[in-house]
Amino acid sequence: MRVDGRAMRTIWPLDDGAAVGIIDQTRLPHEFVVVRLETLEDAARAISDMQVRGAPLIGATAAFGMALAMRAGADDAALDGAVARLTATRPTAVNLRWALTRMRAALAPLPAARRPEAAAALACAIADEDVAINAAIGEHGLALLRQLSARKAGRLDILTHCNAGWLATVDWGTATAPIYKAHDAGLDLHVWVDETRPRNQGAALTMWELMNHGVPCTLIADNAGGHLMQQGRVDLCLVGTDRVAANGDVCNKIGTYLKALAAADNGVPFYVAAPSPSIDLSIAAGHATPIEERAAEEVTHVPGRGADGRAQLTRIAPAGARAANPAFDVTPARLVAGLITERGLTPARGESLATFGAPPH
Ligand code: MRU
Repeated sequence: MRVDGRAMRTIWPLDDGAAVGIIDQTRLPHEFVVVRLETLEDAARAISDMQVRGAPLIGATAAFGMALAMRAGADDAALDGAVARLTATRPTAVNLRWALTRMRAALAPLPAARRPEAAAALACAIADEDVAINAAIGEHGLALLRQLSARKAGRLDILTHCNAGWLATVDWGTATAPIYKAHDAGLDLHVWVDETRPRNQGAALTMWELMNHGVPCTLIADNAGGHLMQQGRVDLCLVGTDRVAANGDVCNKIGTYLKALAAADNGVPFYVAAPSPSIDLSIAAGHATPIEERAAEEVTHVPGRGADGRAQLTRIAPAGARAANPAFDVTPARLVAGLITERGLTPARGESLATFGAPPH
């Protein structure tokens, strides 16, 4: 997508593979800062600290992290150590395991001397594939949005949660790819953007993206979605996913489940953009997904900018308040109208998912 008129991805190789460029997402929307990752540790920290986040981008960053690791040492111990370090960064998005499994399978049979070059090439290929996957999701989603728009004969109002935008992927986004394509094709649409407490990925990132691209959008408090659906002001929900289980259960950012319940109660179709690397056929149902528990401070405090423009962290709970912070939840397949994959639309049901086929994990 474009930033100040310049086409950009969220991650790219620098200096013949000696480093990797990323956009520091913890600084958006206030500052646009590019950071250089030079080591395995840089890549692991960028994922843990959420300078990069979103399931597909976590996978791509892990792949580039492997490539950086192999430059520093590529024997079997280094290979295993790099996989273990990156695996430990975040537990929920299955794209991380998918990318690391793929990197290990490609690198392990090679002599150590050939691993650095092969790792760099495969990381670039994984990034390119992500762009192609999301572009294809965009085309299939566009067809769906056209249908819904024709049925309504008026502005299509879409509700999204978290950031499943281009910042969460290498480019295009998953949930946003159909939105960008539909907007560019002239479809009359508008997006309700959940703020997405506690980290506010909707307010900070999705709003920044959509506004940059000129897509009409309105920020709402997380709790407003159900009310808007009751009022008939939401035509569909469209979200991303961190992991789809074999039975079609969808794990995504905390709060997604409540939106799906409200959507079901109000007859609003609830769609999930699901690239194949996010589909995990190795778990039977969503309850087996490891749910990341993040720091209590993300709930008790809100980061922002003061009147002087300086970053500040504001406490909104009494000093010493205990807080729980599960970062993801699971939406049962029965609440999902369909998955938009790169191979087309499929019901969120076991048999169809298996036919649509996920890559090996
Ligand atoms: O904690 P985050 O910001 O990494 O969570 C991101 C989400 O939950 C996204 O909706 C999901 O990764 C899909 S991204 C295309």
